[in-house]
Amino acid sequence: MDAVRTHGHAHHDDHAHHPGGIMRWVMTTNHKDIGTMYLWFSFAMLLVGGTMAFVIRAELFQPGLQIVTPEFFNQMTTLHGLIMVFGAIMPAFVGFANWQIPMMIGAPDMAFPRMNNWSFWLLPPAALLLIISLFVPGGGPAAGWTMYVPLATQMGPGMDFSIFAVHLLGMSSIMGSINIITTILNLRAPGMTLMKMPMFCWTWLITAYLLIAVMPVLAGAVTMILTDRHFGTAFFNAAGGGDPVLYQHIFWFFGHPEVYIIAIPAFGVISQVIPAFSRKPLFGYTSMVYATASIAILSFIVWAHHMYTVGMPVTGQLYFMYATMLIAVPTGVKVFNWVATMWKGSLTFETPMLFAIGFLFLFTLGGFSGLVLSLAAVDVQVHDTYYVVAHFHYVMVAGALFSAFAGVYFWLPKWTGRMYDETLGKWHFWLTIIFFNVTFFVQHFLGLAGMPRRVPDYALQFTEFNVISSIGAFGFGVSQLLLPYIVIKAIRSGEKAPQRPWEGADTLEWTHLPSPPPYHSFQTPPVVK
Ligand code: CU
Repeated sequence: MDAVRTHGHAHHDDHAHHPGGIMRWVMTTNHKDIGTMYLWFSFAMLLVGGTMAFVIRAELFQPGLQIVTPEFFNQMTTLHGLIMVFGAIMPAFVGFANWQIPMMIGAPDMAFPRMNNWSFWLLPPAALLLIISLFVPGGGPAAGWTMYVPLATQMGPGMDFSIFAVHLLGMSSIMGSINIITTILNLRAPGMTLMKMPMFCWTWLITAYLLIAVMPVLAGAVTMILTDRHFGTAFFNAAGGGDPVLYQHIFWFFGHPEVYIIAIPAFGVISQVIPAFSRKPLFGYTSMVYATASIAILSFIVWAHHMYTVGMPVTGQLYFMYATMLIAVPTGVKVFNWVATMWKGSLTFETPMLFAIGFLFLFTLGGFSGLVLSLAAVDVQVHDTYYVVAHFHYVMVAGALFSAFAGVYFWLPKWTGRMYDETLGKWHFWLTIIFFNVTFFVQHFLGLAGMPRRVPDYALQFTEFNVISSIGAFGFGVSQLLLPYIVIKAIRSGEKAPQRPWEGADTLEWTHLPSPPPYHSFQTPPVVK
């Protein structure tokens, strides 16, 4: 403003500096605006991907083919996966990063605000490419979200749309990661050493490095598909001297770390929420940092556990099996720390805490079924069955989505200055957790009984569990409409949020002060060093 005033034409520049209406959102460089856009975008994608899940579960409600063609069914499973992973979950946590990281470390904004704007605005065109791929000749991609060859090299132009969408999404993620790393390493307030940062910042710092390491690998893999499709290469074509299994290796070298790209920021949110509602600092902060880093490093050396059935040598299976089981160790450290944080805490169970505990319970279940799948001898029996589908939905939905909901309810008072309706929040939680389990728990049984995934029809003996699963899915989907209602109601007419909405449990403070607050505390606070 000062600079403008000295030039003596403030009234001319006002409009250019503060665009109004839609242009405010198009041109914004403010981390809070951009965080808000990420979060609404991800919710919109949750609805799009959820609609596709509706189509899938409607078709599977009965045996036989009723509603869609097998081709369209496969397009639905593919786009449901791509849209949920890249459109819904990842942007949600980037939204949290945008909102929280600058405030948590005392930075005025992200390090590269204009690049931040660009990172976000690459997402809508990518989402559009994925959606309009359904309407080109041959329809959308139908090779699964993993885009396995030779399917991916043979199908229609819908696959090219997906490849370009992945390119855009990758660019967005890489720029977002550069921004997060630079912000955390360069813009911390004096005194905010790395080991004093709130856990959420640590999880994003580690995740950003993971993203920079593996997004180019995915971009390379899909570009090789692109050149195999159109430019006469044969990277993955055995007839030309290539190898389709090579694609799986490259894809999963990205794909397994990707699981942790989703899970680690979720761990970060949970590590903020549980201490706040336990009125205790996070137990084992240092071990939490090192456990998170260990998980990230281990995530690079386990990829072929997705490929036990391609015909790899037994020694290879054994290596990938033991390496995978090793990840249970740092994960166990984290779960132990969360439980120890709650131990003897002055617990209260508002909506964010309910979602955090729901996360803890169900993510651990998903971890256990992952451990089951890590055993090569077991995996070859249930490979490509609904057991796998059940497993990763416990990790992705009960893990990432529950954590995102915990974060939204936890930080909404800070973001909007308004409290949400606690009763409705609790309804949202209970409907979500019940319908989630109705949908996905029975899929373990379907998988163990041998029902293959990505097939629109099934043998009659699978009917009952599929009916249950579909009813759960419809209930789960409809329950999610509560979330925008609760958020908009809070913004429009919510009670004014107090300075510290969770009774003294402020995210910043909780990482630094080893003492619990006076409220609810049964213990003598430990002495501050
Ligand atoms: Cu994996």
